[in-house]
Amino acid sequence: MTSPAAPPPSPASAWAAASSAATPASASTPEPAVAAPGPVAGPDPVAAPPAIDLHDLRIELPGVHGPVTPVRGISLSLAAGDTLGIIGESGSGKSLTALALMGLLPDGAQVQGRLRIGGQDLTQAPDAAWRRLRGRHIAMVFQEPMTALNPLHPIGRQVAEPLRIHQGLTRRAARDRALALLERVGIPNAAQRLDAYPHQFSGGQRQRIVIAMALACNPEVLIADEPTTALDATVQRQILDLLAELVRERQMALILISHDLGVVAHTTRHVAVMYAGQFVETGPTREVFAQPRHPYTQGLFAARPSLAPRPDGAPPERLATIAGQVPDLPSLDAMRGCSFAPRCAHAAPVCAVAPPMQRVSAAHGVRCVRVADLSASVPPHD
Ligand SMILES: Nc1ncnc2c1ncn2[C@@H]1O[C@H](COP(=O)(O)OP(=O)(O)OP(=O)(O)O)[C@@H](O)[C@H]1O
Ligand code: SF4
Ligand SMILES: [Mg+2]
Repeated sequence: MTSPAAPPPSPASAWAAASSAATPASASTPEPAVAAPGPVAGPDPVAAPPAIDLHDLRIELPGVHGPVTPVRGISLSLAAGDTLGIIGESGSGKSLTALALMGLLPDGAQVQGRLRIGGQDLTQAPDAAWRRLRGRHIAMVFQEPMTALNPLHPIGRQVAEPLRIHQGLTRRAARDRALALLERVGIPNAAQRLDAYPHQFSGGQRQRIVIAMALACNPEVLIADEPTTALDATVQRQILDLLAELVRERQMALILISHDLGVVAHTTRHVAVMYAGQFVETGPTREVFAQPRHPYTQGLFAARPSLAPRPDGAPPERLATIAGQVPDLPSLDAMRGCSFAPRCAHAAPVCAVAPPMQRVSAAHGVRCVRVADLSASVPPHD
């Protein structure tokens, strides 16, 4: 277990860490932070700790042939009211990072590095500390709302429960507040439906109910892990708009995990591209989408279907794919150089050393030793 002695980077200072990482580094170099500074509130913004502060976070899990490390040095600093999208292929470690932030990692998981929420160090916190924090300071919305809802209890009771547990509200007051929350997230006829059961709602409405539950205790941080994947496009847009409104209204920090690049572009100010347990590209969403610089990010963008109409008679556009697969966890631990090298068309002998994050603009970092040689390419699709 290691916990760096250096003080946590404030949002304003996070890219100082990024720039220092632009010099050659060894395989153990901690990852620079994703700077996601929020709106400056009040005269002394430096006084407020970041809502989330991760530094070189590593997660080790027990494996069949020994421990494996699916998350390998994540750093980020996210301020209140700011939004970060995390994208990356299946198995890259997005959900484990989110579960670490909720204190919900599987049994036997070991966490190394620094994990602070609202300034509180939780790297080695016992379950009791996490129970106090969850709901009140940090809450999560999962992909499938039925995993969060109890099918046997009416929804009013489920939204009211955290208010009774964490805020000590009376049954009546908690029910009134649950009603206000359900109205806020747009459940039609909420007053008449407080005693209805989850199966009596549509998928989009169930996700709204889960968001109401997550918001019940006014958390400072909301994590949404694929919150709209199971929903049709119209409902998906409504849920994303709702999340964006709530972030603005409550000044919550939002981490949105999604495979859908459009969802992240629509909802977040900052983006982190995750590959094999590391952030390989980070920066302002607009800039990364306009000029993806890491070969993996470029591959992700190229693999995205275009909505542009095809000329009459033109054959359907073939989608580009990224050759190969994310390395499995045991071979990942054995790799010494760039973990994307086996799939990278630009791999060269220089890639045999683990690449540090290199800054390509004030707030844009790329974990690729060849980034200066490779041109920025692959403009975003429509
Ligand atoms: N409880 C667990 N025990 C062992 N390995 C696990 C466990 N949970 C996840 N993993 C492994 O850790 C790696 C990262 O998993 P994670 O669920 O974080 O991926 P992800 O990026 O969220 O993928 P997806 O996009 O499919 O949701 C994967 O290789 C996965 O198999
Ligand atoms: S470091 Fe080398 S292998 Fe890795 S992404 Fe860059 S060019 Fe490709
Ligand atoms: Mg996942």
